[in-house]
Amino acid sequence: MRDAGLSLPRNDPRQYDELAGEWWRPDGAFAMLHWLAEARAALVPPATRPGALLVDLGCGAGLLAPHLAGKGYRHVGVDLTRSALAQAVAHGVTAVNGDATAVPLVDGCADVVAAGELLEHVPDWHAVVAEACRLLRPGGLLVLDTLNDTALCRLVAVHIAERLPTVPRGIHDPRLFVDHRQLIAECARHGVDLQVRGVRPGVPGLLRWLFRQTRGGEARTSRAPRIVPTGSTAVLYQGHGVRGG
Ligand SMILES: C[S@@+](CC[C@H](N)C(=O)[O-])C[C@H]1O[C@@H](n2cnc3c(N)ncnc32)[C@H](O)[C@@H]1O
Repeated sequence: MRDAGLSLPRNDPRQYDELAGEWWRPDGAFAMLHWLAEARAALVPPATRPGALLVDLGCGAGLLAPHLAGKGYRHVGVDLTRSALAQAVAHGVTAVNGDATAVPLVDGCADVVAAGELLEHVPDWHAVVAEACRLLRPGGLLVLDTLNDTALCRLVAVHIAERLPTVPRGIHDPRLFVDHRQLIAECARHGVDLQVRGVRPGVPGLLRWLFRQTRGGEARTSRAPRIVPTGSTAVLYQGHGVRGG
């Protein structure tokens, strides 16, 4: 168990410094972020023009980067955490150290804006959505995933997940979880027609992975669990939507 959160308040960004060595460990504290990055990247089509820009808000250590390879984007990552950004740079991301609510890039510069597992970590997710939509060019694509503001999500993501091996305790503050209807409405207000769907790790892969974790084995040679669609948005959900002209 990683106990970075025990000495810090829930969702304190300094946890990411304490856990800096975990980002690129496939079975480390951020293992599920690797699975989610693959699923998020699958929503991003190949670039349609030379020099297309993908802005990755709250990019962390750039886990999205390998899954974008060959799609033709310049990958700019914005994050508060310098120790994570340094690792993102090593994976080909152009780093901007700053707040996702005030990104020093011009309006309409981005062909794609990604916000993976970010909205549930910020005190004002409405401001991040406004900034994401400001950065998107007309016709540009917003892709995101986040945790829903439901009792089931609080149970699964906090009370259950934080008792599992490798999930950092205190990484989430459930008061920041994001109601999917409010998110759709906020995106619409900024010109993005967001479609959402519930997702979760596939059960057989997840059970195999948990079994390996409890036996202390590293799974570098085995397939990581896949993120699959599920019928309910009540816990984890993905969104994607195009900004209107
Ligand atoms: C759960 S991690 C997700 C990282 C990455 N998107 C991924 O999926 O691998 C959340 C990230 O958001 C960053 N973060 C939190 N609040 C932020 C803010 N206001 N502006 C920019 N980054 C922020 C943290 O430093 C951390 O790297």
